[in-house]
Amino acid sequence: MKKPFVICHMMSSVDGRILSKNWGSQELVKKFSGLYEECHETFGSQAWMCGRVTMEKDFSNGAKPDLVKPDKPIARTPFIGDKEAVSFAIAVDAHGKLGWEKNEAGGNHIIEILTEEVSDEYLYYLQRKGISYIFAGTMELNFRSALEQLARLFPIRTIMLEGGGNINGSLLNEGLIDELSLLIVPIADGTPKTPTTFEVGEYLSQRPSALLELIENRQLEQDVLWLRYRFKSDGM
Ligand SMILES: NC(=O)c1ccc[n+]([C@@H]2O[C@H](COP(=O)([O-])OP(=O)(O)OC[C@H]3O[C@@H](n4cnc5c(N)ncnc54)[C@H](OP(=O)(O)O)[C@@H]3O)[C@@H](O)[C@H]2O)c1
Repeated sequence: MKKPFVICHMMSSVDGRILSKNWGSQELVKKFSGLYEECHETFGSQAWMCGRVTMEKDFSNGAKPDLVKPDKPIARTPFIGDKEAVSFAIAVDAHGKLGWEKNEAGGNHIIEILTEEVSDEYLYYLQRKGISYIFAGTMELNFRSALEQLARLFPIRTIMLEGGGNINGSLLNEGLIDELSLLIVPIADGTPKTPTTFEVGEYLSQRPSALLELIENRQLEQDVLWLRYRFKSDGM
């Protein structure tokens, strides 16, 4: 299968937790986020991907879709909203919940990854907004199919997978991540029930853990460590 190279890029506390609102000083969090963005830029990727929860919280500002019934049924085939786009924000939104003000996030054209069970009203909404979409699964998402379509339909060679923990865990579980780029911030979080870098939901059949090979380690400002690992293809 031809798929983009997938780099999971995340920032976590020393105990693996990823919710920065628990990390005390928001000034310091801003500095950590600046370092996170600087590291992101070094990869020269064409796309970044986030789960519905992260998109809603950090990028779509909780906007609600404006749903109108189309004149005729809409086929479950991919829709390309901007044929000229060269950089992409990919939203994993299995059930079609996200609303958007425009068809880009942070200057990157939005692609929604959906299941076929989303309503015609939602597809019509995305079409009217000029937002691209693909289908990856009937009821449940199949990320292998999603990645194959992203490589085939768009000029995407590298994707930064940027959380949250559930989306990362789903791709981990399917063995689809090639590299982990992890910024460890000098915080011991300890908050119970907080998502970690990889959350593999109980609804997924669990694979064995993945074995990683350290390929780079750097100390950044503010006592942040930047670790880069390659996923070993032969697992454990
Ligand atoms: N520290 C960092 O570097 C970093 C980076 C990114 C995000 N975050 C934080 O992470 C938090 C959100 O993480 P999260 O794990 O709760 O949510 P998430 O991974 O952003 O989104 C998960 C959602 O994606 C949809 N989904 C559908 N099928 C899925 C599947 N097979 N696997 C995974 N997701 C699927 C589901 O949406 P439906 O509920 O609509 O079905 C699910 O609720 C946010 O607070 C955000 O700020 C931290």
